[in-house]
Amino acid sequence: MRLEHVPATAQIPQIDIPAFDATPWAARRAELLRRMGSGVAVIPTGSEVLRNRDAHFPFRFDSYFYYLTGFTEPDAVLVLVAGEQPQSILFCLPKDETREIWDGYRYGPDAARDTFALDAAHTLDALDEVLPKLMADRDAVWYSLGHDAAWDARLNGWLNAVRGLVRTGVTAPEAVRDVRVLLDEMRLIKDASELATMRRAAAISCRAHARAMRFTRPGVREFQVEAELLHEFRMGGAQSPAYGSIVATGANACVLHYRADSAVCADGDLLLIDAGCEVDGYASDITRTFPVNGRFSGPQRDCYELVLAAQAAAFAATAPGRHWNEPHDAAVKVLAQGFIDLGLLQGSLDGVLESKAYSRFYMHRTGHWLGLDVHDAGDYKVGGDWRPLVPGMVLTIEPGCYIRPADDIDARFHNIGIRIEDDALVTADGHDNLTQDAPKSLADIEALMRDR
Ligand code: GLY
Ligand code: MN
Ligand code: MN
Repeated sequence: MRLEHVPATAQIPQIDIPAFDATPWAARRAELLRRMGSGVAVIPTGSEVLRNRDAHFPFRFDSYFYYLTGFTEPDAVLVLVAGEQPQSILFCLPKDETREIWDGYRYGPDAARDTFALDAAHTLDALDEVLPKLMADRDAVWYSLGHDAAWDARLNGWLNAVRGLVRTGVTAPEAVRDVRVLLDEMRLIKDASELATMRRAAAISCRAHARAMRFTRPGVREFQVEAELLHEFRMGGAQSPAYGSIVATGANACVLHYRADSAVCADGDLLLIDAGCEVDGYASDITRTFPVNGRFSGPQRDCYELVLAAQAAAFAATAPGRHWNEPHDAAVKVLAQGFIDLGLLQGSLDGVLESKAYSRFYMHRTGHWLGLDVHDAGDYKVGGDWRPLVPGMVLTIEPGCYIRPADDIDARFHNIGIRIEDDALVTADGHDNLTQDAPKSLADIEALMRDR
């Protein structure tokens, strides 16, 4: 490596990392306890998973557990006891000097209780003794039944232990309720702390997309563009991508779940990048599509402008009082008319909408909730109707157009795959596009690639 390839220290961005503040996490626990009303909630996080021989997959905490604790270690359980004296109790790994020499710092129960503002904390091996006692004389257990067979079996064991005590006058919980039903509703509306984190993630991902555009030119391979994205993610302080980055050039852009591979970006082709980073557990999710050589061709331009117009229509339908499906309906209407205008479909707009003929070129939904999970928690319908949008919800808006070669399609359109995706926060008077800094207009993209 030549020395001039190493950035001068002055060029390395200084990243401010906010200090951990347990207040919002405690507020979420208090709200969940209020919604439970009674009973005991048991919410485990995950364990490390072996990848091959001695190497593990990078550990990622369970989103529900993290939402309520901020605690990122594996092998821990949060127990919430609702009622007149609500309690938040953590069970976690013990301090262990030997393990800490190999694997790094562990909080242990005492430091965890203080740092994460819990009422009590114990080591994980106390679960079998403490849980049956906490469940005795409670009406319900709140738990994610069916998510993890091993935890299901342990829960059954604790319930049976309480049932075994009934002759001593103890009553066992009658109901096992799904705690996700309560948590999903809470997670749909992001609090200020969550939004601050999501804005950090969005800003880093915007920079990553701009960097990828500046880097791309004929001859580079998809994985080299992915490397540019990953560089910006980590340089900005993101812990990881929020999902496997899609870097798809030419015909690959028409494969919806394509992953960055080794194809060479060719002069005259498009490059579709769907990539977003995760910061402190929160996802961003951006797609940009641009010409490898920096100049859209005629058919590429037509299709890009169509998808952009569909996205604008979807954004216009993203506001409080509109329902979940309105942005999708708006995007589909614009795309369907565009496919007719471009000669890709025949017939009337009503006919194309009615027959869903547009789905040949636009076969996915226009968005999903976004938060701790890239496809975040929360139902899309309530009581059989599409859910109304309310301030604090975050959703993606991601229309696209994917034209596979076929005899009845003008060859100039073959293999054009375009998606444009942004992350929208619903606000009191409309929406805020969290990812608007990723270059998107034809003029902005062409200018950035021309002037790099
Ligand atoms: N990147 C996943 C999605 O757009 O849904
Ligand atoms: Mn998405
Ligand atoms: Mn995406």
